Amino acid sequence: MASSVAAALRSKPCKKLCSILFRLEGKVALVTGGASGIGEATARLFTKHGAKVVIADIQDDLGQSVSRDLESSSFVHCDVTKEDDVEKAVNTTVSKHGKLDIMFNNAGITGVNQTNITDYKLSDFEQVVKVNLVGVFLGTKHGARVMIPARRGSIINTASVCGSIGGVASHAYTSSKHGVVGLVKNTAVELGAYGIRVNSVSPYVVATPLAKNFFKLDDEGCLSVYSNLKGADLLPRDVAEAALYLGSDDSKYVSGHNLVIDGGFTIVNPGFTVFANSV
Ligand SMILES: NC(=O)c1ccc[n+]([C@@H]2O[C@H](COP(=O)([O-])OP(=O)(O)OC[C@H]3O[C@@H](n4cnc5c(N)ncnc54)[C@H](O)[C@@H]3O)[C@@H](O)[C@H]2O)c1
Repeated sequence: MASSVAAALRSKPCKKLCSILFRLEGKVALVTGGASGIGEATARLFTKHGAKVVIADIQDDLGQSVSRDLESSSFVHCDVTKEDDVEKAVNTTVSKHGKLDIMFNNAGITGVNQTNITDYKLSDFEQVVKVNLVGVFLGTKHGARVMIPARRGSIINTASVCGSIGGVASHAYTSSKHGVVGLVKNTAVELGAYGIRVNSVSPYVVATPLAKNFFKLDDEGCLSVYSNLKGADLLPRDVAEAALYLGSDDSKYVSGHNLVIDGGFTIVNPGFTVFANSV
């Protein structure tokens, strides 16, 4: 649908309107963790804006059903902890669509809700770091491999508010997300030489299977957790909108940035503030 409407709008007088309605027209994106939650919302929004999207996930049935629901989308099985899988997902995208413009390294897990470091199993810690940080490293590596010759591209990684502050999730999750923010900074420096931008999105609590399982909350419960910003709920679509901005040419000079989507959660300590209303 988007592509046929876009074709009609592509004529010269409508070009401006087309660039507003279809901000990713002609672009190709690979979305890891695209079968559910934030990744699914992003795959939906990206295709709506004219992109061709490849969804990469370990949940094959769910990923295939999301991709069937979307025009200009396909699914590839990919475990982001396995380099062969990530390499194959990138190669499949390029052989199918001829290029890769946007690599969204979004797949993630929380791991166990263990708050006591002395009881924290090494294997539990390693599992989270493997998916959340090593997975992003592999996606960045193989995304960059095909973007470098093209001398352009946008790599977007999903970090978290846990990439900026402590105390909101487990040691492994917090460590992995801080690692993602560090990797964004380092790779933005290296890949800037090739015209490739690298950024991250860092959401606060979003009611997805990941957050609901970890905090043992339903949708309503997730929406009721403390928020600095009153009168608005954070939804998967809001994170997708941030990824849309970073993937589109609207952000053509933005690189090395951690786009925090938290309603101001990480910039205030509600325990000590002159503003009485902020608790
Ligand atoms: N939901 C939140 O509150 C929240 C807040 C901040 C950051 N995040 C981050 O957002 C990202 C997306 O999470 P979500 O909330 O949409 O959760 P989700 O569980 O809905 O989606 C995560 C997806 O990643 C996939 N995945 C897990 N391990 C994988 C692997 N090894 N290889 C490939 N795919 C794998 C899952 O199958 C799932 O489809 C994660 O990186 C998460 O850490 C979420």
